Amino acid sequence: MENGPWEALETEDGSWTLLDSGLGQACHAREGAWTEARERYAGPTRLRERALAEDAPACLRLLDVGTGLGWNLAAALEAVQGTECALEVVTLERDPSVIEAALELHARQPLAAAEAFQRPVAEALAASLEDHAAARMQGVALPGGGRLYLWLGDGRETLADFTWPTPCPGFDAVFLDPFSPGVDPPLWEVGFLGRIAELMAPGSLLSTYTASARVRARLMAAGLIVGLGPRVGGKAEGTLASPDLALASLNPKRLAQLRRRAGDEFEGPRGLERMH
Ligand SMILES: C[S@@+](CC[C@H](N)C(=O)[O-])C[C@H]1O[C@@H](n2cnc3c(N)ncnc32)[C@H](O)[C@@H]1O
Repeated sequence: MENGPWEALETEDGSWTLLDSGLGQACHAREGAWTEARERYAGPTRLRERALAEDAPACLRLLDVGTGLGWNLAAALEAVQGTECALEVVTLERDPSVIEAALELHARQPLAAAEAFQRPVAEALAASLEDHAAARMQGVALPGGGRLYLWLGDGRETLADFTWPTPCPGFDAVFLDPFSPGVDPPLWEVGFLGRIAELMAPGSLLSTYTASARVRARLMAAGLIVGLGPRVGGKAEGTLASPDLALASLNPKRLAQLRRRAGDEFEGPRGLERMH
């Protein structure tokens, strides 16, 4: 599939995004890249709430699907700022040229409101591109004692190979932010979503912007509970998913349709027995 070249676009909150002119898709909604990162991803996955909890872990593990400009990463850093909790992030990106374009854009057009988080993300991504093989295995330092692991390549392949360096319950949060399912389907495939579900820890949350019935059914078929995500700007609600948390529910008729569809999407007992 043809990617890029990347064209810079300013969004309504003053933050910049990149348009993949090959696909005709921008990385963010025109309402605001930074707003979307905070309100669609960092907020609904409750990173700050968990980092401030009495029983907060020493680190929260985040899977960031589609590194892009790193806005979502910056919002995740903001969420744990001032807490005792470090952020350990695995970020998946098919195309290093989007990160290079983002780094240039950031150097020219930093957003004052986000700079404290955007700058360390830019530095970590630049260092990761410089020596990708080392960065992929050892990670690059993030403020607060965390680490960023950039995995370049098709996310379906990189995540299939993923193993934890030391045993752990899994990812605490997933930002699922590929291009739209109709235009760029690979990262919405049943197998990839199933792999994500396998890697999610108890009590974890996934957030995505799409309200696609097919995607929701696939998340259910992967064994996740599926609920409504927030509306951001003028956009319709997105989708949240979790292995075990109660979520704002979809309307019952819609839910019944999705359950039937999930059965079709994923044959076998695993998806069905964990459906709620
Ligand atoms: C909507 S943008 C992500 C925006 C980003 N989350 C941010 O905060 O700026 C989608 C990204 O997914 C990447 N992508 C698309 N297909 C991919 C694949 N198969 N594997 C890994 N990354 C992919 C694109 O190159 C693009 O950078």
